[in-house]
Amino acid sequence: MTAALSEGVQTSPAFTPRVFSGIQPSGGLTLGNYLGAMKRFVEMQGQGFETLYCMVDMHAITVWQDPEALRRQTRELAAGFIAAGIDPEQSILFNQSQVPEHAQLAWIFNCVARMGWMQRMTQWKDKAGKNQQNASLGLFAYPALMAADILVYHATHVPVGEDQKQHLELTRDIAIKFNHDFETEFFPLTEPVIEGAATRVMSLRDGSKKMSKSDPSDASRINMTDDADAIAQKIRKAKTDPDALPSEAKGLEGRPEARNLVNIYAALAEQTVDAVLRDVGGKAFSEFKPMLSDLAVARLSPISGEMARLMQQPDEIDAILRKGSERARTIAAPILKQTYEIVGMVS
Ligand code: TYM
Repeated sequence: MTAALSEGVQTSPAFTPRVFSGIQPSGGLTLGNYLGAMKRFVEMQGQGFETLYCMVDMHAITVWQDPEALRRQTRELAAGFIAAGIDPEQSILFNQSQVPEHAQLAWIFNCVARMGWMQRMTQWKDKAGKNQQNASLGLFAYPALMAADILVYHATHVPVGEDQKQHLELTRDIAIKFNHDFETEFFPLTEPVIEGAATRVMSLRDGSKKMSKSDPSDASRINMTDDADAIAQKIRKAKTDPDALPSEAKGLEGRPEARNLVNIYAALAEQTVDAVLRDVGGKAFSEFKPMLSDLAVARLSPISGEMARLMQQPDEIDAILRKGSERARTIAAPILKQTYEIVGMVS
């Protein structure tokens, strides 16, 4: 579906360079979220793009969320964004539910997207599991809301980890079908930005599984709120193989756990995998792991310290999100209005 529909279509240069991305406040932030998404969001600030970053609370409730936990996690995620370097003056930082245009455009997209497209989404299949009949309708429609998040701002670039690639292809398919059905070029064909050494950070316990906030084993992930001891202990216990580290990236083939730790190191050190391996090639894991935990602690502890400080001021966080959502609405409202006009709604 996606390849055939997307072929030969270029993003029009007519759109303002604008970055949008979102993170679900459905649990604590992990090192995967940080390296695969947030760190890259920070790097895209001030690079000639308008930048919008969103706590997608409406996506989070597609599976059950305890209301108090959702509130706390939304604030904690906002604190994480700011502590990691997102400047709420420079970027627009907000939570999804305060900008009703997301849900309004999502309804239009529910009527554009086809059931078959949704059924092919691997995240739907994974999350709904064997009991699809019991999954929420929101979980099924999730990718149409995600397309609305992006397209309600006419965003041109979306930095994400690799696991979101299929959803971004669907976003392009929705834009293409809308533009085709209504004979317009109203929505841009958004570019996914999936770059760097850490677009897919894996579990520390199993190199074939993604590091995830929903993994039942806490030892499988590094949480952004973990202290230095917890980080060091998790890295010490991380699964590895018995061989020494190779001197070139080719030597990581068939060694998913080794590859994962080297990728994490490279992303934290802001070096290429080849440059890291030139330094550490030949070392045993007993030597490499302490290097990795020192680096992780040096990079993450200022962020977790700042998060903890910001969490003492929830009113300030709420004020930042309110202001961000007002700014977001100034972009989203006219785009939604034009969409309604294109669709034929009387206003
Ligand atoms: P979410 O909340 O699962 O993850 C947020 C971001 O973190 C990335 N990520 C990872 N990257 C590398 N390694 C990992 N182990 C890892 N785990 C998570 C994700 O790829 C993502 O970029 N559907 C999205 C949220 C969303 C969104 C959007 C994103 C809603 N609307 C619009 C972009 C644009 C999600 O569930 O991400």
